[in-house]
This record gives sequence, C-alpha cells and structure tokens, in this order.
Amino acid sequence: AQENPSVNEKLLKICKILEANVSYYNWVGFYFKNGDKNELKLGPYVGEPTDHTIIPFGKGICGQVAVSNKNFVVPDVAAQDNYIACSITVKAEIVIPIFVNGENIGQIDIDSNTPDPFTEADERFLEFVCKEVAEILN
Ligand code: SME
Repeated sequence: AQENPSVNEKLLKICKILEANVSYYNWVGFYFKNGDKNELKLGPYVGEPTDHTIIPFGKGICGQVAVSNKNFVVPDVAAQDNYIACSITVKAEIVIPIFVNGENIGQIDIDSNTPDPFTEADERFLEFVCKEVAEILN
C-alpha cells in the first residue's frame, strides 16, 4: 500500500504539516519495511535529502526500531554509538513504529536541530499520527 501514489501524497502531506507546525521538527519522514528484505526503505519525507534511502534492520536508530518494535527517543544523537548521521545540524531524533494488524511495518522518523526537544507529549502525539497512518495503509 505504501507504494500507492495517492497514499504517498497523503503521507507527504502529513510530513509537511508536522514540519510546518512544530518548530523543532526539522526533518520528518517515513521508512517502511522493504518487501521481505531485512531492511527499511525511505518513503515520503520533508527536509534535507538523505543518502540513507535503505537502512538494514538493526542499523542506526531507525534500524533498531525495526527490530525492537518500540519508540526510540534520542535526546542527544552524539551520545549514540549505533546512529546514522544524515546532517551535521541534527541534535536529536525520535522514531515511532507503525503497526498494521499488530505488525511493525515501518516508522515515522523525526530529526531535530534543537537539543533534547522531545517529551512524552511528542510520543503520545506521534503514536496517534502513526495510528492514523496505519488506517491510510490498511
Ligand atoms: N538518523 C537515522 C537515519 C535516518 S536520517 O535521520 C533521515 C538513524 O540513525 O537511523
């Protein structure tokens, strides 16, 4: 479903709304499991283009969420060993998994140029967004 053009337009719109309305959301994008491969593939996003269009499971913050099925809030990316840097301006990151029928099928990934900006309110809000996205994909 995430290869469907109208689905991608909706996901891009969500990225744009989030980036435009939350000052500390500076890169907003989706990664999805790439078929039956053990890797994530970049979906719609807003912000600086990234070289990391494919991320193996387990690698970086995103790859770790693909296997943990849990939210990952990183207040300081410099303190992470298993981290894939996309831009030197990024200080913090939050990744929330997307579940469809109980299966972790992808994630929303947000980078911030502000140090330690994410609170539990961001987690609850982005979990809600991910549930809406699951409805779009289902
Ligand atoms: N920083 C991520 C890679 C994706 S970029 O943030 C767009 C990671 O460590 O998985």
